[in-house]
Amino acid sequence: MPQSKKPGPQATKAPRESVRILITGGRIQRRIQEIAKQIRKDFPDEPLHLVSVLKGGVFFLTDLARSISGEVSFDFIAVSSYGQNTHSSGQVRLTRDLDSSVEGKTVIVVEDILDTGMTLQYLLRLFEQRKPKHLRVAVLLDKPERRIADVRADYVGFSIPNEFVVGYGLDYAERYRNLRYVGILTLGSDTKKDAAKK
Ligand code: PRP
Repeated sequence: MPQSKKPGPQATKAPRESVRILITGGRIQRRIQEIAKQIRKDFPDEPLHLVSVLKGGVFFLTDLARSISGEVSFDFIAVSSYGQNTHSSGQVRLTRDLDSSVEGKTVIVVEDILDTGMTLQYLLRLFEQRKPKHLRVAVLLDKPERRIADVRADYVGFSIPNEFVVGYGLDYAERYRNLRYVGILTLGSDTKKDAAKK
């Protein structure tokens, strides 16, 4: 799973935290336009069904959906993990299923970040069983250094280093999701140990 987001004992002292911009909102939007064009080029005549994973993928999905020409629909799914154990055990649990069937559809899984890959591995196995016509993956951010599961995305916005990032859907203890940019979060010394590494 994702970056560990449990606040440490000093996490309520927000002034100790700072966010340094890694990818500006403008760069994100320009890249999304490129990805949208590429997806439509790959599937010129197909209705596309975007499926995003709550909550972090929401902004990427909404911006991507509005940038792809032609017929687009979307749906949401939610999963939960079991903290650090998830990395080794691969335990991902479905907490909210899709509203509609993906059978026969051209499905694009839309994720904010591909980190260990455990979430995506779970989702791909789940969706493959449901017989979509095509199954592809779009991620805004890819942290290849962190990969555990053998999965890859078909469309990648930005490949980033192994830093704790927030913004554009990504949170730390539910904060920072609403930033238009992606930034590197720096915490005070007491909280850094808890959050920076999983
Ligand atoms: C994030 C992200 C992906 C997952 C990627 O979700 O949205 O779903 O982690 O991590 P992985 O590649 O290591 O599996 P998170 O569990 O943080 O939930 P959120 O989207 O609600 O913040």
